Amino acid sequence: MTNLNPVVVGITGASGAVMARATVDELLRRDIPTVALCSNPARMVWQEEMGENFTDTLVEWQEHPAFVHYPINDLRAPVASGTYPTAGMVIVPASMNSIASLAGGLSGNLLLRSADVCLKERRPLVLVPRETPLHSIHLENMLTLSRMGAVVVPPEPAFYLKPQGISDIVDFVVARIFVALDLDQSMPYDMQYQGPVE
Ligand SMILES: Cc1cc2nc3c(=O)[nH]c(=O)nc-3n(C[C@H](O)[C@H](O)[C@H](O)COP(=O)(O)O)c2cc1C
Repeated sequence: MTNLNPVVVGITGASGAVMARATVDELLRRDIPTVALCSNPARMVWQEEMGENFTDTLVEWQEHPAFVHYPINDLRAPVASGTYPTAGMVIVPASMNSIASLAGGLSGNLLLRSADVCLKERRPLVLVPRETPLHSIHLENMLTLSRMGAVVVPPEPAFYLKPQGISDIVDFVVARIFVALDLDQSMPYDMQYQGPVE
């Protein structure tokens, strides 16, 4: 395991469970300490999109010594306090509901509280919002959070890389998350734009 402080992964009930799965898988593949927090709507979406019960996925992740999960209402978990050091947090996917709560300073569950801690402690906070189309309140909430230092990473395909399918798009988003969290200095070479092909 690395000496890095844990990275917190918040999973909310927006579409895109596959991105959360890929993010945690990659953190654990690198033996990076990982704390996962999952809202109740996210469990429902997980079942629908992954065809798998989130609890079964947890059992699989829990085989890795670097992995920890806390229940969404466990406000006594270490990540609820700014005194507990983390390397930052990504919310992937980030629902408009959770983004609105965060932008309004609400922290009524452990996921929101942990993200709020990142904001107040000036730690990296990465949001991967998933909604379309976006109305003005969605946009204003994201602007508020961006101005507070959060990095907003919409899960947009890099069309110029000519993705061959969903997994190429997901890999690109995960690579973007790692750069935004400062876990990587740059995108992998094969995900960098190299200019027009002659
Ligand atoms: C299948 C499914 C897909 C959803 N997709 C989205 C989405 O892409 N974006 C979003 O903001 N909400 C989406 N929702 C609605 C959220 O789950 C809902 O607003 C919920 O209250 C979010 O709660 P949370 O922020 O605590 O996870 C979806 C719900 C379901 C059941």
